[in-house]
Amino acid sequence: MNPFVYDIPVKVYFGENQFCFLGKELARFGKRVLLTYGGGSIKKIGLYDVILSELAKEGLEVYELPGIEPNPRIESVRAGAQCCKEHHIDVILAVGGGSTLDAAKFMAAGACVDHDPWEFFTREAPIEKALPLVTVLTLSATGSEMDCGGVISNLATQDKLGRLAPPLLPKVSFLDPTVTYSVSPYQTACGAADMLNHILEVYFTTEHDLYMLDCFMEGLMKTILRYTPIAMEHPDNYEARANLMWTSSWAINGFINGGKQHDWSCHPMEHELSARYDITHGLGLAIITPRWLHYCLDESTVAKYVQFGVNVFNIDASLPPMDIARESIRQLSDFLFKTLKLDDTFTKVGISPDDIPLMAQKACRWGTINGLKPLTPKDVEAIFTMCI
Ligand code: NZQ
Ligand code: ZN
Repeated sequence: MNPFVYDIPVKVYFGENQFCFLGKELARFGKRVLLTYGGGSIKKIGLYDVILSELAKEGLEVYELPGIEPNPRIESVRAGAQCCKEHHIDVILAVGGGSTLDAAKFMAAGACVDHDPWEFFTREAPIEKALPLVTVLTLSATGSEMDCGGVISNLATQDKLGRLAPPLLPKVSFLDPTVTYSVSPYQTACGAADMLNHILEVYFTTEHDLYMLDCFMEGLMKTILRYTPIAMEHPDNYEARANLMWTSSWAINGFINGGKQHDWSCHPMEHELSARYDITHGLGLAIITPRWLHYCLDESTVAKYVQFGVNVFNIDASLPPMDIARESIRQLSDFLFKTLKLDDTFTKVGISPDDIPLMAQKACRWGTINGLKPLTPKDVEAIFTMCI
């Protein structure tokens, strides 16, 4: 068990009727606000009007940058950083899903430097400061509302790269489950697959950590298993949407990590799929995750699978450990592909086997992935091949 630092200074307004505090929270940072959002869902659900009216009450000066793409592009980040510099923006307000929030984080950092923001991702440039960021989350999935990371695509180089840095943490996040009522069953499912994987990436390790954290992760996973089908079937079920929303934040805000130091495995693999094929992040993770678990299962790792199978899927603890482990992967696959109705192979989502060697190389661009099992490009190729 390693020592660790817990420091998550994000102020969260959770629940309905909290937008009345938005203007005052923004005004703490200044008058000039850059409002950034995606392709228009916030206008369809009336959230855009609510937000503008709240900002007007505080007399804030609002500049807008709409059109942030899913798998957000570096061009949008550049445009946002430029806009902040030109208009001397005091605070960024990001309204949307993980893509908008991620793009806003790097606009905030890009506004404070003279170099191209892409250098943050090639790790040529440090991230030492950023403009303050306030978020309004509209899709439960990535946890970007409460973490200090983000992932940006560069179509020119077919790269999708992430970066973590404390200055990127939002100052305040507004989490109103009712604004997620309009999220489609497909995006709800992809969001669930994403948050489930955020937990599995931390839960499945050979590093020993606190029992309390394992129980907490099992509770989060059971929450996703219980409430995602309800949210898909009844989009305006408040209890389901609220449980998923708070789970999204706690799956990745650093709390569950404790002192673990291992690498995440599925995320670097998935980012190569999104980089090359622009597919939805959660869908790519759903395809990869059960194959990764199969690939890493052996006598040295089986105990964790048993714990997962017994505590999360209620599999009979008296069965042989390997049987429990395989059954747990089968039940996870059933949830992802039958209950959530997500596509289960590369072929179904149009990923060509010809691209596997290059994507595997790129997934390991920073070296061997030291997760549950160390993964070299050959291992990643083998896992990708299982996905065909
Ligand atoms: O663009 P709009 O019109 O808003 O539509 C979006 C988009 O088409 C729509 N949507 C969002 N809220 C909605 C809604 N539609 C109806 N009603 C609403 N209330 O959903 C679509 C997908 O949105 P997006 O923001 O792309 O989804 P998500 O939140 O899943 O974000 C995915 C991105 O986050 C990155 C992913 O790689 C991907 O680029 N990640 C960020 C992480 C982080 N910051 O820590 C961690 C994750 O692992 C992940 O890598
Ligand atoms: Zn993710």
